[in-house]
Amino acid sequence: MGSRSSFAPGSSALACCLAALAIFAVLCDGGTTSPFVRTIWPSVDMPFDSDVFATPPGYNAPQQVHITQGDHVGKAVIVSWVTPDEPGSNRVRYWSEKSQKKRYSEDTVVTSYKYYNYTSGYIHHCTIKDLEPDTKYHYVVGSGHVERQFWFVTPPEVGPDVPYTFGLIGDLGQTHDSNVTLTHYEQNPYKPKALLFLGDLSYADDHPLHNNMRWDSWGRFVERSVAYQHWIWVAGNHEIDYCPEIGEYTPFKPYLHRYEVPYKESNSSSPLWYSVKRASAYIIVLSSYSAYAIYTPQYQWLKEELPKVNRSETPWLIVLMHSPLYNSYNYHYMEGESMRVVFEPWFVEHKVDVVIAGHVHAYERTKRISNIAYNITNGLATPDSNPNAPVYITIGDGGNIEGLANNMTEPQPDYSAYREASFGHAIFDIKNRTHAYYAWNRNDDGIAVEADSAWFHNRYWYSVEDSS
Ligand SMILES: *[C@@H]1O[C@H](CO)[C@@H](O)[C@H](O)[C@H]1NC(C)=O
Ligand SMILES: *[C@@H]1O[C@H](CO)[C@@H](O)[C@H](O)[C@H]1NC(C)=O
Ligand SMILES: *[C@@H]1O[C@H](CO)[C@@H](O)[C@H](O)[C@H]1NC(C)=O
Ligand SMILES: *[C@@H]1O[C@H](CO)[C@@H](O)[C@H](O)[C@H]1NC(C)=O
Ligand SMILES: *[C@@H]1O[C@H](CO)[C@@H](O)[C@H](O)[C@H]1NC(C)=O
Ligand SMILES: *[C@@H]1O[C@H](CO)[C@@H](O)[C@H](O)[C@H]1NC(C)=O
Ligand SMILES: *[C@@H]1O[C@H](CO)[C@@H](O)[C@H](O)[C@H]1NC(C)=O
Ligand SMILES: [Fe+2]
Repeated sequence: MGSRSSFAPGSSALACCLAALAIFAVLCDGGTTSPFVRTIWPSVDMPFDSDVFATPPGYNAPQQVHITQGDHVGKAVIVSWVTPDEPGSNRVRYWSEKSQKKRYSEDTVVTSYKYYNYTSGYIHHCTIKDLEPDTKYHYVVGSGHVERQFWFVTPPEVGPDVPYTFGLIGDLGQTHDSNVTLTHYEQNPYKPKALLFLGDLSYADDHPLHNNMRWDSWGRFVERSVAYQHWIWVAGNHEIDYCPEIGEYTPFKPYLHRYEVPYKESNSSSPLWYSVKRASAYIIVLSSYSAYAIYTPQYQWLKEELPKVNRSETPWLIVLMHSPLYNSYNYHYMEGESMRVVFEPWFVEHKVDVVIAGHVHAYERTKRISNIAYNITNGLATPDSNPNAPVYITIGDGGNIEGLANNMTEPQPDYSAYREASFGHAIFDIKNRTHAYYAWNRNDDGIAVEADSAWFHNRYWYSVEDSS
């Protein structure tokens, strides 16, 4: 698979990069290890009084507004927001740009939780159903003089040749790097319409007592994007918030209260794993931190789920999880191995196009490889080129408080096509049932620079080698 690499802004760097490439070609078994050296910012969260965390003015004004897909096919949306002082209005007023006719939804769940000595605000999740496809809607939350208005565009009707552009961000956190990643994402020239978020949202748990005020500040930080477009959520390890030392025994408590997903619509028994259809894509979300071995609910669900995917309806089969199954960094090395052993044969059997993960705070893209031949006694324990296998992308490089993962296993393994320790984000731009264009942007470059890119050829419809 080809990749276009530009190692530093400006052409003066070209000659030395070519030299670096030549050296790497000698040393490496695999693809490209980028020698790009990023600027170092301190890995600290932006202070609470930063502009990005400002609370909207007015008593009990709704904040942390976010939306996600509300059903299996994209005709519903879940609008969520937090009111700090009292429950306030349950209602979302909305209208389509076409008809202007005002409607209301009161299909709202209001919840709150305590975490050690923190008490959350009133968290609202309102489902709006029966939306028109590919239509701009305006919506209003709050009441009286603290009404706040936003808008979103519904996805087009599900279908095999519907073009659609996804953004990819993982492990975002709330540092200055996080802000640069989000800003780049907003400026992306492909204008991504929905974001696949690969887990690890706020990193509140890196603060004493898992300071849940960092969950609130994160919600305010990302509102500028997620109030206007659907973010599809994946749970990471920083969502677990299990902390027996302070009496917090319920895994995923803050995350599950704050982020609702349409899991029942895909017959899942848990919001931690579910699926949605969107345009020409079928998106399966898995949980690296829930049981997945044989006989467990997640195993059983996925086993029944994969055969249901109709590639004539949704050609692009995309699997999301937090912990990567292939990762050649010396961070979280082989943490995804037990899930790989269980699920990889299914991914190959069902011709999954791409598996996207976060967790490792760096970037990597693999070739189409599988490691499913091994049967304990035959010694075939090496990843092998396999045209039915997915490409694995690790994009845990949102830029969080824990800093960058820059220690790689050497030499670069054969299966790894491109890896680089930089913060950034990517887009997955589906053109039609056969072609999708993929591009990764590093924060240190202008948004126009695609540091890594590739054409994906659909595994079901056009199973030829990917290329550039
Ligand atoms: C919770 O406890 C910590 C440590 O004792 C303290 O610093 C913090 O102010 C408390 N927070 C609240 C909301 O009481
Ligand atoms: C975050 O980025 C936005 C958009 O670029 C900018 O307006 C804002 O000042 C930044 N805030 C911080 C704290 O870096
Ligand atoms: C949903 O899951 C249950 C339990 O696994 C199963 O019995 C049922 O057939 C499933 N329904 C559909 C529509 O797949
Ligand atoms: C798969 O989707 C196509 C296109 O929507 C439809 O014609 C076909 O009946 C579906 N197949 C099954 C088994 O549902
Ligand atoms: C493992 O593979 C070897 C070599 O193909 C074969 O001889 C052996 O029977 C296999 N073992 C099992 C348990 O399938
Ligand atoms: C990189 O990771 C390896 C394996 O964990 C370790 O032995 C080595 O010391 C690390 N190198 C640096 C520079 O931290
Ligand atoms: C699908 O998109 C690719 C890339 O834009 C294009 O080359 C190809 O002709 C398209 N296929 C069809 C059937 O339109
Ligand atoms: Fe993680």
